[in-house]
Amino acid sequence: MISIGVLTISDSGAKGAREDTSGERIRAMVTQLSEAVLSAGAIIPDEREQIEATLREWSDEKQVNLILTTGGTGLAPRDVTPEATKAVIEREAPGIAEAMRAFSLQQTPFGMLSRGVAGTRGHTLIINLPGSPKAVQECLECILPVLPHAVNLLTEGPREH
Ligand code: MTE
Repeated sequence: MISIGVLTISDSGAKGAREDTSGERIRAMVTQLSEAVLSAGAIIPDEREQIEATLREWSDEKQVNLILTTGGTGLAPRDVTPEATKAVIEREAPGIAEAMRAFSLQQTPFGMLSRGVAGTRGHTLIINLPGSPKAVQECLECILPVLPHAVNLLTEGPREH
């Protein structure tokens, strides 16, 4: 079983002024994984402290295996998702973010504008996705097949090959 938390980070989404289509897209895509169970979800504003607190709670208390965030990874002054994530993770998993950016650049040059990071806290893997439903779709398409193995390694340790 892979327990998954979907965290939408958006000022307008948190006010209820915008529908959470990106969070919906993530939920629809991860349910393609046979062992996935959605166990946490929230829409919060682009506030660094709130993002860090939610990531800590879901990792340490809820102990979800995988947290996927969407939004706040760009260059706008209020885009602080990568800074909040870096403050919370213990080990970076740069290959995941590199793979998403490389794949994104094949779709659009705007892919270079996402500063998203990925890393682990305890037994939880945290991955930042960009904010638009299109970007979410493309980035998840790239990493989805690898996620079950990543979560296995994190929860069970290495196995004989
Ligand atoms: N990645 C993919 N695959 N497809 C996209 O359309 N949009 C980009 C980028 N990454 C995009 C993408 C754009 S326009 C921005 S501004 C950045 O993600 C950051 O988005 P965010 O601030 O909503 O997280």
